[in-house]
Amino acid sequence: MTALNPSPTFRTLISAEDLRARIQELGARIAEDYRGKRPLLVSILKGGFVFLADLTRSMYEDHEVDFMAVSSYAGGTRSSGSVRILGDLSQSIKGRHVLLIEDIYDTGLTLLYLKNHLELREPASLKICTLLRKERAFHAGVTLDYVGFEIPDEFVVGYGLDYEEIYRNLPEIAILQLPPKTEE
Ligand code: PRP
Repeated sequence: MTALNPSPTFRTLISAEDLRARIQELGARIAEDYRGKRPLLVSILKGGFVFLADLTRSMYEDHEVDFMAVSSYAGGTRSSGSVRILGDLSQSIKGRHVLLIEDIYDTGLTLLYLKNHLELREPASLKICTLLRKERAFHAGVTLDYVGFEIPDEFVVGYGLDYEEIYRNLPEIAILQLPPKTEE
């Protein structure tokens, strides 16, 4: 008996055009809020890399970028609840204005962990920008300073978000529907 892998289907939730327009707005607002402060934008890898790439190019105020790699989903469609730091910042953030750049706020456990962890490093300020916030019954209650889009509680891929490490390259945010596996 061999398990087949039928093709998944994708339903567009946020088009590439809508992403572009909203990120321009966010970039302009963030640049205004941080004028003269030279903030450090910290992308949370892997999912946050596409969003950061577009956000940084929409900001016409001086800022720096850095990266942290964390994992909580372990490849599947559900958060494992335990966050692992796989790669750390390249510099001290003591006294810096730090803005965390996330692709999605789902349970919020990743951002809750990161916020508590990074506060210990004594930044001048620590704020959060997430492209997507999922509407769900439970979440960790972290304050989000900038939110791109509210989305329904569906599993989404594209624009940096993956399922088992693929689909990050899709230019839009799409709802992934996996067909049930069939037996041969
Ligand atoms: C995803 C996403 C967020 C986190 C959000 O990361 O990029 O970091 O989950 O989920 P939460 O709010 O329920 O904690 P994932 O662990 O899949 O790693 P990846 O970014 O490498 O895909």
